[in-house]
Amino acid sequence: MKDLIQKVASHLAADRRIVVLTGAGISAESGIPTFRDPSEGLWARFRPEELASVEGFQKDPKLVMDWYFWRREKVLASKPNAGHQVLASWAQKFPGFTLITQNVDGLHEQAGSRNAIEMHGNIHRLRCFNKGHRGSWPLNGLPANCAECGSLMRPDIVWFGESLDPENLKKISHALQTCDIFLAIGTSGLVYPAAGYLQAVARLGKPTVVINKDPASDPGANFFINAPASEALLAIDSCLINS
Ligand code: OAD
Repeated sequence: MKDLIQKVASHLAADRRIVVLTGAGISAESGIPTFRDPSEGLWARFRPEELASVEGFQKDPKLVMDWYFWRREKVLASKPNAGHQVLASWAQKFPGFTLITQNVDGLHEQAGSRNAIEMHGNIHRLRCFNKGHRGSWPLNGLPANCAECGSLMRPDIVWFGESLDPENLKKISHALQTCDIFLAIGTSGLVYPAAGYLQAVARLGKPTVVINKDPASDPGANFFINAPASEALLAIDSCLINS
C-alpha cells in the first residue's frame, strides 16, 4: 500500500494538471448515505423513478420535495471530512487542479473548494420547473411556487433522463482532454457521463487512479487504492508534504 501511495504521489507535482472526480463514497465518512450500498444505499431503500425523475415529480411533488428536504437535513447536520479537506488544499497547491463532483451535498465547497464543478447540481438550491428561475428552500420544505412565473419549485438536481448543464460539460471536456492525471474517488462508475471519464483519459495515454473501499470496484485503472477515501487522500498528501 505504501509503495502504491508513493507512486501516485510522485505523479502529483506542481506543474501537473490534475483532474479529480468524486462520488458519494467521499461523503460517506461524513455520514451521508451512498446510493448503491446494498443495505444502507439510497437506491436500496427508495425508488429512483419516483424520487429522481421528472415523471415522479409531476405525479407527486410533495413526496419528492419531502425526500430531498429529508436528505438536505442530513447534509446540514454533517461536516466535510479529511478527504474533502485534502482536495480543497490541493486546489491551492496545484495551479492546474480541477475538481468534478457527482455529489449534490455542497461539502467540497464547505471544505473550501471554490471552483468544484457540481455536475449533478446542489441540494441546497431550488429552481422552478418551467423556466429554471432560482430559489431557496421554504422552511417547511413543502412544494412552493416560483415567485417569478408561478410554476412549481423543484430541487436544482439533475434527474435520470435529464441533460447536464452544457457549460459544465464544456469545462469537464476541456479538463479531461488536457489533464496529466485523473483520479476517481468513491464512485461506483455506473452513471454516465461521469462513468466514461476514466476510460476517456486512459485512451489519451494518461495515468488513472481509483480510490475505493470496495475491492471489486477497480475498473482497470493504472493505480487502484483499495481504502477509504480520507485515509488514502491523507496518505498521498503526507507523501507530498514529505517529498
Ligand atoms: P454510488 O453509491 O453508486 O457509489 C459509491 C461508491 O463509493 C461505491 O463504489 C463504494 O464502494 C464507494 N465508497 C463507499 N464508501 C467509501 C469510502 N469511505 N471511501 C471510498 N469509497 C467509498 O455513488 P456514485 O458513484 O456517486 O445521481 O453515484 C453516481 C450517481 O448515481 C449519483 O450522483 C446519483 C446517483 O443516482 C444523481 O442523484 C443525479
